[in-house]
Amino acid sequence: MKAMIAALFLLLVLGVPGCSDGGNLPQIEHLIGVSQANMREPWRLELVRELKEEAAKYPEIRLVFTDATQDSEKQLQDIARLMAYGIDLLIISPSDVETLTPAISEVYSKIPVIVLDRVVEGYDYTLFIGPDNEVIGKQAGEAISNLAKSADFKILEIRGVDNYLSSAARSQGLMGVIKNSKNISSKVITVPNDSRDAAEDAVTALGSRVGDYDLIFAYNDYLAQGAYRAVKGIAKRPFIIGVDGFTGADGGLEMIRKGMIDETITCPTGGREAIRYSLDILNKASGVPKKVILRSYTVNSDNLESYERSLEKSGTPHAGPIRVGYAQAGTESGFRLANNNSIIAAAKEFGIDLTVIDANQVAESQVDAVRTFIDMEVDVIVISPIIEVGWSEVLTRAKEAGIEVILSDRRIRADLDDLYLTFIGADFIEEGRRAMRWVAENVPADKRTVRILEIQGTQEASPTIDRKRGFELALAETKGYEIVYSGHGEYTRESGRLFMEWYLKENNWDIDVIFCHNDDMALGAAEALEAAGISPGIDVKIVSVDGTKEALNALKDERLNCVVECSPLLGSQLMKAIKDLMDGKELPFRACLKSLILRTKEHIATNSSYFCVIFGLCINA
Ligand code: AHR
Repeated sequence: MKAMIAALFLLLVLGVPGCSDGGNLPQIEHLIGVSQANMREPWRLELVRELKEEAAKYPEIRLVFTDATQDSEKQLQDIARLMAYGIDLLIISPSDVETLTPAISEVYSKIPVIVLDRVVEGYDYTLFIGPDNEVIGKQAGEAISNLAKSADFKILEIRGVDNYLSSAARSQGLMGVIKNSKNISSKVITVPNDSRDAAEDAVTALGSRVGDYDLIFAYNDYLAQGAYRAVKGIAKRPFIIGVDGFTGADGGLEMIRKGMIDETITCPTGGREAIRYSLDILNKASGVPKKVILRSYTVNSDNLESYERSLEKSGTPHAGPIRVGYAQAGTESGFRLANNNSIIAAAKEFGIDLTVIDANQVAESQVDAVRTFIDMEVDVIVISPIIEVGWSEVLTRAKEAGIEVILSDRRIRADLDDLYLTFIGADFIEEGRRAMRWVAENVPADKRTVRILEIQGTQEASPTIDRKRGFELALAETKGYEIVYSGHGEYTRESGRLFMEWYLKENNWDIDVIFCHNDDMALGAAEALEAAGISPGIDVKIVSVDGTKEALNALKDERLNCVVECSPLLGSQLMKAIKDLMDGKELPFRACLKSLILRTKEHIATNSSYFCVIFGLCINA
C-alpha cells in the first residue's frame, strides 16, 4: 500500500517513465527505485532503455529513476530520496563502490537491493548482476590471436578513462591471452573520455602512422566508431574490434552490418535480468542466486544474424515433463551429501524428472555417465565435474546432440567455456583468499615466520586449484607467512588422516597453521594430530572450508579455528535455472551462491542461532 501511494504520487507528480494517463491507472504492486551512476555514458543509457523496455511488460511494477551524474554524494542523496518514496526494491549501479557500500548495506537491512555492474564490498545486497570484464578481454585476445598470422602483428588499443576498473580487467584478460604470442605487439592510447570524438581525435592525430597497425581494439563500440571515422579513408584500414554489441542505429551490431567495425564482444547491461530477478525477489521465488555473471559473445559478420535471432527468443512456458541427468562427483564429504539432498529435494519441488548417476570420484565413470544421459536423450545434463580436464570429447557430443549442459558446484577448464551453458556454484578463489586473510589477522607473524601446511583436495579439481590460488593471492599481500609444504588429499576424512600421519612420520613437527581445503580432511588431520599428542586448534591453528555440522562442533570444541563457508545448497538455484532454460529464457554465464561467511568459535558462542545451523541453512536464509 505504501508503495502504491508513493507510486501514484510519482506517476502524477514526477512523471515516472512508462506511466499511462492518469484516468486509467493500472494496479501497481511494486515500486522499484533505480539509482543510476550517470545517464550520459552510452552503456548506461542502454541499461536504462533495457530496464524500461523489460519493465513495460509487467503492469504490476513501476520504475522511478535517479541520475547521480557520476557524483557519489549525489547518489547517496538519491538513495535517501528513493527510500523516502517508499520503494519496495532498489536497483543500483554505483558510481563509486567504496563510498556507497555502507549506504547500500543500510538499504539492504530494510528492502531487497540489486547491484548492477560494479560489485560492492561484502555481501550486504540481495543480488549482483554484471558482466565479466576479464572474460571480455580474453575473448578479444582470442579473436586477435586467430587473426595475427603475420610475423609482426601490431595492435592499437584505445581506452577511455571513464571506466578504469572495467578497462583494467579487460586489459588483464587480453594480455593473459596475447602475452605469449611473440609476433603480437600492442600500443595503448588512453583518451579523456569514452566518446566517439575522443577516439577519432586520438587516431587522427597519429597521421600516417596509423597505417602501421593491423588491428584496433577499442574498449567500447563508441570508441571503435570514432576510430573507424579516423581510418575509413585509408587504403588498407586496420581490422576493428569493439566491445558492447548493442542493437539500434548506433549500436555495434549495426556497425558490423555496415562494415564500419569487424567484430564486437558483447557486454550485456543486465537490465532485462534485473527486472526479471526483481520480480522473483519481490514474489519470494526460491532459487535466486547471489551473483549473476552475464555471458559475452564474439559477434562478426559470420554470426551476426544468428546472434540477433537469439536476442528475439521470446520465452514460452515449457509444456510436459523436464528430464534431467545429473552426473554427480561422489559421496566423498559432508558437503557432497548435503549437496545431493538439496538437489533431490529441489527437483521434487520444481517437478523435475531427475536421474542421478554417482561417479564415486572416478573421472572416467563421470564421463560415461554423461554418455549415458546423451543416449537417454534427456533435456538437460548437469555435471559436478570431479576434475577440470577430460571433457572436450563428451561435451562436444552433447552439443551435437542439442543437449544443454549446466555445471554445478565445480567448473571445467576455462578454454572449454563454449561447451556448457552456465555454471552455478561458489567462488572458490574467494574462499581461499578469506582463509588466508583469517590467518593473517589471527596468527601474527611478529616474532618469526608463520609456517603453513596446506592439505589440498583432489588434484585438478576446480575447488583445489582455485582455493590454492586465492590463498596464495592473499598470502602475497602479507609478509611473514610461508607455505612450507603442500600436498593432496581426496576431500575425504580418511585422506586427511593419512596425509597427516604421513607428514608427522616424515617431518619434524614445526607447523603453526594448517590450511585444509575441506572440513572432512581437517577433521581427519585433527584425529591424526591427537593420536600424536598434538592438540589441533591449540598447538596448531586449523582453517578449513565448507561448514559441515561436525566442523562447526569442532570449532565450538576448539579443535578447528576457522571455517570458510561453502554452501552446498545449490538445488533450488539449479532447478530454477533449468526451468528458466526450458521456458526459453536466457541463462547467465555464471550464477554464484552467497557463502564465504567465516565461522569461528567466537562467532558460534555469540550466535544463538548456532543450533539451527545445519550446513549454512541460516546463512542462506
Ligand atoms: O566442490 C566442492 C568441494 O567438494 C567441497 O568443498 C568438498 O568438501 C567437496 O568434496
